[in-house]
Amino acid sequence: MKEITKAEAQKRIEELTSEINEHNYKYYVQASPAISDYDFDMLLEELIRLEKQFPELASPESPSQRVGGTVTKEFNSVKHKYPMLSLSNTYSEQDLRDFDERVRKGLDNEFQYICELKFDGVAIGLTYVDGKLKQAVTRGDGVQGDEVTANVKTIRSIPLVLHGDDYPKEFEIRGEILMPRSSFDKINKEISEQLSEDGYSEDEIADRLLKNPRNAAAGTIKMQDSAVVAKRNLDCFLYALYGENLPYETHQESLEAAHSWGFKISEHTKRCKNIDEVLDYLAVWEKKRTKLPFDTDGVVIKVDSIRQQKDLGFTAKSPRWAIAYKFKAESASTTLLDIIYQVGRTGAITPVADLKAVALAGSTVRRATLHNADQIEKLDLRIGDQVFVEKGGEVIPKITAVDLSKRDLFSHPVKYITKCPECGTELERKEGEAQHYCPNVNGCPPQIKGRIEHFISRKAMNIDSLGEGKIEMLFDNKLIHRPSDLYSLTYDKLIGLEKIISGEEGEKAKKISLQEKSVKKILSGIEESKAVPFERVLYAIGIRYVGETVAKKLAIAFKSMDAIEKASSEQLLQVEEIGEKIAESVLEYFKVAANRKEVEALRNAGLQFELSADSMPKMISNVLEGKSFVVTGTLTNFDRDQVKVVIEQHGGKNQSGVSAKTTFVVAGEKPGDSKIEKAKKLNIPIIDEDEFMKMIGG
Ligand code: IVH
Repeated sequence: MKEITKAEAQKRIEELTSEINEHNYKYYVQASPAISDYDFDMLLEELIRLEKQFPELASPESPSQRVGGTVTKEFNSVKHKYPMLSLSNTYSEQDLRDFDERVRKGLDNEFQYICELKFDGVAIGLTYVDGKLKQAVTRGDGVQGDEVTANVKTIRSIPLVLHGDDYPKEFEIRGEILMPRSSFDKINKEISEQLSEDGYSEDEIADRLLKNPRNAAAGTIKMQDSAVVAKRNLDCFLYALYGENLPYETHQESLEAAHSWGFKISEHTKRCKNIDEVLDYLAVWEKKRTKLPFDTDGVVIKVDSIRQQKDLGFTAKSPRWAIAYKFKAESASTTLLDIIYQVGRTGAITPVADLKAVALAGSTVRRATLHNADQIEKLDLRIGDQVFVEKGGEVIPKITAVDLSKRDLFSHPVKYITKCPECGTELERKEGEAQHYCPNVNGCPPQIKGRIEHFISRKAMNIDSLGEGKIEMLFDNKLIHRPSDLYSLTYDKLIGLEKIISGEEGEKAKKISLQEKSVKKILSGIEESKAVPFERVLYAIGIRYVGETVAKKLAIAFKSMDAIEKASSEQLLQVEEIGEKIAESVLEYFKVAANRKEVEALRNAGLQFELSADSMPKMISNVLEGKSFVVTGTLTNFDRDQVKVVIEQHGGKNQSGVSAKTTFVVAGEKPGDSKIEKAKKLNIPIIDEDEFMKMIGG
């Protein structure tokens, strides 16, 4: 690559910055992109490369900030220059007419309203000085909030540098940060797939999913790593301008000006001459809002003239010139046709309501989760009941109540199943647990198939020549019962194997049979899996709660399957992030003779049972050889796991507790009191992060 001088770099950085800002504006504000995503990414990459080469040329407003990378351990608390008030809420037409009456009495001449959607996200205040984004602060308690500027800079619809030149020298603009429904669904799908591969039950997964786009947006904006925020695709609509002596006469005029500087302003804002026009707007959006790509929970009605807003003023909590009309949670009524019981890979039973199809919040609902037996009992459900379903911000619709006036007098309460719907085994329910389980771990088809599917999955053994359909085929033909059976499959056993695939609605059933090409692919995929590194084998065997990351931690800490099999509870608990639940699950797994036998069969098949040098952190130096470290508190350059790896990479050892054998205690921010005390007592040197950095050569 040709060497570039600093002056040339500066010129190119300026060109790239203005080009990228322009494309960003076209894409996010005008919704009319001028180049492909790929070309855009190329420009951004070039800019990032140059800024890495010449860090002194990178400005805080550079579009490279969009990809994040700043880690904030604790957000600064900042006092709002203008307090962030809330709005009074109403749910009825009468309340709105009363509001209109109050406004009319308070003003002695004509006025108009502006109706805006009430975005369901988190409020944010953005301060711009000389056209540059300086600070972004959350609402907090209305008086002071958290400074989340680095995270906000990753939101592409928020300009880092303003367009044009007619903006006030200093102003604050407020709006709502939201997570579009599509991003929300995508993130939840990823979480759910990952947790399901890690052996969590439907119920446990439901508990861990992001609850609704608003919570997701609120959680995301307070994340420590802005690079993660950048990937979450947040968006932001602005709806209020604050500053000294702003030249705008109406709210609408101020929003139009803001739009011209590059802010995203809702296109659904409408000026209304009177309260009847406001009510028409509400009626339209009560229905149409489900078609929007993001959540709204109402409409905000504001007096348009800024002078009239000032005349009306504020109560202690909210402006007298605005009110929020909230939509009712959407619900629909339909018939409960049946209850279906699903069996997961871990044997957990999840009851699901089979409903007569009904339209709700923009989609057709046929199923609702029922979670467990208690839930069914609490609702006193009966087949044939007319039930109310709600989406109320949750991902999967739920049944909220039964319409008792429509209940058939001769109906009976649902009796929860006592036997597994798949294999007929008597179900179990452990004390204190809500879920029923099928204990027939080695004989229940969905459990067996589920375990094998997990075993071959991408992040486990990655045998992509097999999939759900082929696993079913092999299982139905009694060729596989456990993962290790895959390794005794042969060409002769597979060739010509048949399976009937029942057609989707309206389609005919099909018969497929395995041909030479597929057979060879399957066998070579299985053969190749023997080279998959140990940490993934450990993940693949499907110990409950041992996900990809936990497997990696265990593999690095214990180095071999043998060592993990022999590990005691105390030893397991010493590994970072391994708590009681995981430790117990590992011990339980190896207590079961069938599991030990399976692990043995996999060993005999030739899988990797030891950590390879490739999976181990690479050695950098031996400057810490013979030294043992205890790290306590938060460091700025590393997270907890990273620092441990770095210590080992320089030949040092990690200890979890301070003892006479400890050489140094590295103390970050807010170190543990007991560790520091013990170190002092034992006369062990306590060093800070800078000293530690010097030890390892910076
Ligand atoms: S105006 C003085 N306009 O609703 C109040 N707020 O309870 C100025 N919100 O904290 C707020 N969409 O987070 C306004 N179009 C909109 C809004 C909106 C959503 C939120 C905002 C505020 C809360 C009011």
